[in-house]
Amino acid sequence: MIGLGIETSCDETSLGIVKDGKELLSLKIYSQIDLHKPFRGIVPEIASRAHLEKINPLLEEVLEESKVSLSDLDYVAVTRSPGLTGSLMVGAQLARCIHAIHGTPIVPLCHLQAHFAVLQLEGVEPVFPVLGLLLSGGNSAIYRIPHFGKMETVGDTMDDALGEAFDKVAGLFSLPYPGGPPIEAQASLYTPESGEKDLLPPMLRNLEQDRVAFSFSGLKTAVSHLLAKQPDLSVPKVCYHFQNTAFELVERNLKRAVAITGIRRIIAAGGVLANTTLRNRLSAFAKKNSLEFFSPQKKIYCTDNGAMVAALGYYLMQQGYSKSLDFTVSPVRQETYI
Ligand code: KG4
Repeated sequence: MIGLGIETSCDETSLGIVKDGKELLSLKIYSQIDLHKPFRGIVPEIASRAHLEKINPLLEEVLEESKVSLSDLDYVAVTRSPGLTGSLMVGAQLARCIHAIHGTPIVPLCHLQAHFAVLQLEGVEPVFPVLGLLLSGGNSAIYRIPHFGKMETVGDTMDDALGEAFDKVAGLFSLPYPGGPPIEAQASLYTPESGEKDLLPPMLRNLEQDRVAFSFSGLKTAVSHLLAKQPDLSVPKVCYHFQNTAFELVERNLKRAVAITGIRRIIAAGGVLANTTLRNRLSAFAKKNSLEFFSPQKKIYCTDNGAMVAALGYYLMQQGYSKSLDFTVSPVRQETYI
């Protein structure tokens, strides 16, 4: 079964062609970061216009690279939620056009779930139930996934997402946008002394023991107060402590999610998983607590991409889920299809 995946939820225009849900034939990603850089954040109107400009050339590229023609496609999977409405509509219209011409079934889906399906492209077969940890520019959450097509929130962010916190803290140091990579690079320049105390307060320290929740806006404020009080602190030292405090909350939440759900298998995904310190820390945490832990090996699979959409689409098709033209896009995530 050959499927096309279309992803236009935010600032990446991406198309992927996948065979049988696990073999990647082609993946193209156009990142709009340079267009949004001057604004230090995503500008919705710029995003949707850029998707419109790039989507057809990218379609031609993936078809050519995979040696597949539109009439060969068994399904077109497309992100319908969550995301910027104008951007989602661009991907949805392409799926509708392909359907109108070739009758190809459309699999409209929630791209948050697709992040957890991308591992099949790296040879990891899905085993359920699993906990999905999603850390990106727009999300910090843990989900219980009983099977593809269903997802229940165990804990979500109360304010900023983790990636957003990286972006905002980078702004405090006038580091480039997006802030994840430069903060990580700065933090790696610092080696703490043995027994060094945390410079920043732990996040959500008074959260009830049986709750899972993320909050990062206070951490950004704590960094800015720290810099005001101690302007001589080195950038690498502050970045190191920022990461340390943020990742401590991620670990604490994972531990609680495992205790609450009894699920000992974790898939982690989203743009922030490109952070090597976080990946190493989560792997060590899983080993120490005898948990199974997976995250995409290829950094390109951490970010939003069309291949993950095609991979999830395959599993939804297998379960009989497909649509014709009668679907809508939505800024709100859709957790359950089946
Ligand atoms: O999933 P993603 O590619 O897209 C959206 O959520 O739109 O995530 C982007 C986020 C940005 O906030 C970026 O700063 C963060 O992922 N990010 C990182 C790293 N690389 C990207 N955060 C921490 N460390 C990194 N190495």
